Amino acid sequence: MTDLNPLLRQRRSTRVFDPDHVVADADLASLLEAARWAPSAGNSQPWAFLVAPRGTDAHAGFVDLLASSTRRWAPSASVLIFTLHQTAYDDGEGSDLVYSDYAAYDLGQAVAHLTVQAGHLGLSTHQFAAFDHDRLAEEAGVPAHWQVTTGVAVGRAVESEVGLRTRRTLAEIAFGARFGVPHE
Ligand SMILES: Cc1cc2nc3c(=O)[nH]c(=O)nc-3n(C[C@H](O)[C@H](O)[C@H](O)COP(=O)(O)O)c2cc1C
Repeated sequence: MTDLNPLLRQRRSTRVFDPDHVVADADLASLLEAARWAPSAGNSQPWAFLVAPRGTDAHAGFVDLLASSTRRWAPSASVLIFTLHQTAYDDGEGSDLVYSDYAAYDLGQAVAHLTVQAGHLGLSTHQFAAFDHDRLAEEAGVPAHWQVTTGVAVGRAVESEVGLRTRRTLAEIAFGARFGVPHE
């Protein structure tokens, strides 16, 4: 990983967040700006975010929706962000809502940009799927044509992670002209 940009090389899904760290308004705004300026198919920008800094009523409500595995580490992050992407929508009346087949892809890329911006600010992130998606949609009043997708905990890491991290090799994921055959 030596040739990687340090923001990418040092990124970890942090499991221990500083429970006293408060995210500055300007930092939170810049995280969301990083997501906002991500590319998307046809500039459809098919994403939305529910944002709850620790200590707010919204945060307390969101913590309630976390699976027990997530509740062990996510509540102490400085902010919880839930991500949504648009889904195909037909109200029978020619809705002008933008929808793209690539909405999930675009949301993922927007969140990736957010994680890099977090690193730039000295913050860490941990994305998660283990929470009650349906209850969040209901309690937050998410319209039917939006899909609750993931959560992102953002805060200051208080550990230096030493656990072994593994990935599939490049030969297993990067092919040439034929699937399964590594590129030169
Ligand atoms: C869509 C998505 C869902 C995830 N869900 C969870 C989760 O529910 N709980 C958890 O502890 N980590 C979750 N993770 C974090 C992954 O486990 C983590 O990214 C992976 O193990 C690689 O570790 P690293 O991010 O430290 O490189 C999720 C990550 C993504 C991108």
